[in-house]
Amino acid sequence: MPTLVEAQPETDLLSLQGIVKAYGTGPRRFVAVQDVSLRIRAGEFVCLLGPSGCGKSTLLRIITGLTPASAGSVLYRGKPLDGINPHATIVFQTFALYPWLTVQENVEVALKARGVALAERRVRAVKLIDTVGLDGFETAYPRELSGGMRQKVGFARAMAVEPELLCLDEPFSALDVLSAEALRGELLELWLNKAIPTQAILMVTHNIEEAVELADRIVIMDKDPGRVVAEIPWTRSMRWWPARPRRRRRRSGPLRGSPVARPSCRWRV
Ligand SMILES: Nc1ncnc2c1ncn2[C@@H]1O[C@H](COP(=O)(O)OP(=O)(O)OP(=O)(O)O)[C@@H](O)[C@H]1O
Ligand SMILES: [Mg+2]
Repeated sequence: MPTLVEAQPETDLLSLQGIVKAYGTGPRRFVAVQDVSLRIRAGEFVCLLGPSGCGKSTLLRIITGLTPASAGSVLYRGKPLDGINPHATIVFQTFALYPWLTVQENVEVALKARGVALAERRVRAVKLIDTVGLDGFETAYPRELSGGMRQKVGFARAMAVEPELLCLDEPFSALDVLSAEALRGELLELWLNKAIPTQAILMVTHNIEEAVELADRIVIMDKDPGRVVAEIPWTRSMRWWPARPRRRRRRSGPLRGSPVARPSCRWRV
């Protein structure tokens, strides 16, 4: 049965209506995503959770304009999306850095593509590298960095263009457990402290705990065909209550080295 989600251009950043995506033609035609409708509002951190192959990455590619939908509409701030979405960027699971460019050049590349002048992109790149806690590594190459550090470059590059909508495609799944936990906490801290100008985050994950930790709302997908089967409206403030006042162990900024001290929390729901 079609899912109807009424678009509300005043509050919606993004509205997907009846999205279908089919790959191939004729007998090789394969419907990857069937009738997906979804709204993302400013201020939301939404997680897309579902099994492998249910079309999560496909949806992110449609939202960012990297691939067109076969049917349905993609509205960004109430207007149909045509081509690349200039208001959204994506952080990939596999970092997708250019190995022949330094950390700074990898961050600058996104700004260069948008025509930002050399002097300004230098300043913005250095500031972002500092924000993610990689100052001192500007001239390092990706091969000289750990997985967690590479993904920080991925975040810095995505944030360089100050996207309104930040799309994250399993950004922690290629990291070891401790690095993933640290980076998750640091991303949440940046987001909650409004240290980044991003208005909404849409994150794809397989990891239920990760979705519960980060999301305001969880959209659950299933496959054959890929579709939305449920939405769980979470409110982060309802989820946890600190057993003791929150103390932060920070050196000089978020996304900096060691994990942010998490409050001692009890599960509430
Ligand atoms: N370019 C393509 N050509 C043909 N089929 C594709 C293409 N991209 C994706 N698919 C198919 O579409 C389906 C959804 O793929 P997608 O990568 O969106 O899934 P996913 O939910 O992101 O999976 P995972 O969690 O493993 O990353 C899969 O069956 C995949 O094989
Ligand atoms: Mg995927």
